[in-house]
Amino acid sequence: MLFELARPLLHRLDPETAHHLTLKGLKALPVCKTDRDDPALALTLWNRTFPNPVGLAAGFDKNAEVMAPMLGFGFGFVEAGTVTPKAQDGNPRPRVFRSAADQAVINRMGFPNRGVEAFRHNFEKFLSIKPRPLGVVGINIGMNKDQTDPARDYCALVRQLGPFADYLTVNISSPNTPGLRDLQQKDNLLALLTQILEERARSCAQDMPPLLVKLAPDLNEEQRTDIAAAALQSGIDGLILTNTTLARPESLAQPFAGERGGLSGQPLRETSLAVLRHFYQLTNGKIPLIGVGGITCGNDAYDKIRAGASLVQLYSALVFQGPAMIKEIKQTLISRLQADGFTRIDEAVGADHHNSAIKKHAS
Ligand SMILES: Cc1cc2nc3c(=O)[nH]c(=O)nc-3n(C[C@H](O)[C@H](O)[C@H](O)COP(=O)(O)O)c2cc1C
Repeated sequence: MLFELARPLLHRLDPETAHHLTLKGLKALPVCKTDRDDPALALTLWNRTFPNPVGLAAGFDKNAEVMAPMLGFGFGFVEAGTVTPKAQDGNPRPRVFRSAADQAVINRMGFPNRGVEAFRHNFEKFLSIKPRPLGVVGINIGMNKDQTDPARDYCALVRQLGPFADYLTVNISSPNTPGLRDLQQKDNLLALLTQILEERARSCAQDMPPLLVKLAPDLNEEQRTDIAAAALQSGIDGLILTNTTLARPESLAQPFAGERGGLSGQPLRETSLAVLRHFYQLTNGKIPLIGVGGITCGNDAYDKIRAGASLVQLYSALVFQGPAMIKEIKQTLISRLQADGFTRIDEAVGADHHNSAIKKHAS
């Protein structure tokens, strides 16, 4: 309700100013307990229990300041970051643009954040809340803009944050850090992941956080095939599909479409879904996938789950709809599960593929 009251004001402001005000408001909120989720939505992955499969995507809480209130709104998990070792300002403002007509956002932020020290301080503060808020908290790590040896930054972050994280995401797919997406090239990726996994084994021997890699939607068939093979070969624990796109569908409003940066929100939905579906096939469902990109309602979330996502995330739609959408998504997931004759969410993961395999077999 608060969001409904504040929305007209927030949407009159520059998107980034509105975001900072929102964070301020959220930090002032008392940690509120949400209603318990329907047990049908709970799932255990990587030895972690997710009360529901709907997560907050990276970029909203770059400095790990509002994980508790966001879990309080009903998310099953929150991914904080992207954090880099050193604090950095990012690109010049304005660098975030929204289009209500398209239900879309374009950003070219370039990982502005307060660096690993401040992040760690905030993260430890969250972990000291008693009792710890229900839900899983992941950390999305990236490299500084001036780093020429990416593995150094990623390994430093694994060392400093790995022991605290429920999971870690290696972000190699932001379009706004020069050279970052080149790390998706197969040989680069394997070399990088080998070093990161070694660092994880060294610094997190007690309870190794699962290591996920977040990919761009702008990958051709050959790149996807190579990356899927590298993912399986390397021994990482999952993939996040997808980050924002450099593509600009013709339907987008002008001058919004002309802004440089990564596009997210509704216009990303179909591409992102297709990439997710393809990776599920390429990996034979052997590693968990998180589906993100263009989720605006429960049906979108369920489509991703049937296409192969064990978990889903969203960000842009929250800008337009506010946190009330989380409840709608969870209610719709329960009705869609029932309509499909499933009793638990994990039975629906990849159901599109299983059905087509069964159909193929029968014909
Ligand atoms: C303003 C903004 C900032 C973002 N920052 C990050 C980031 O720091 N790291 C990251 O991995 N993804 C970042 N993302 C991408 C989202 O996590 C997500 O992958 C993408 O927006 C697609 O989901 P959506 O359509 O639900 O927004 C950002 C997205 C937006 C809109």
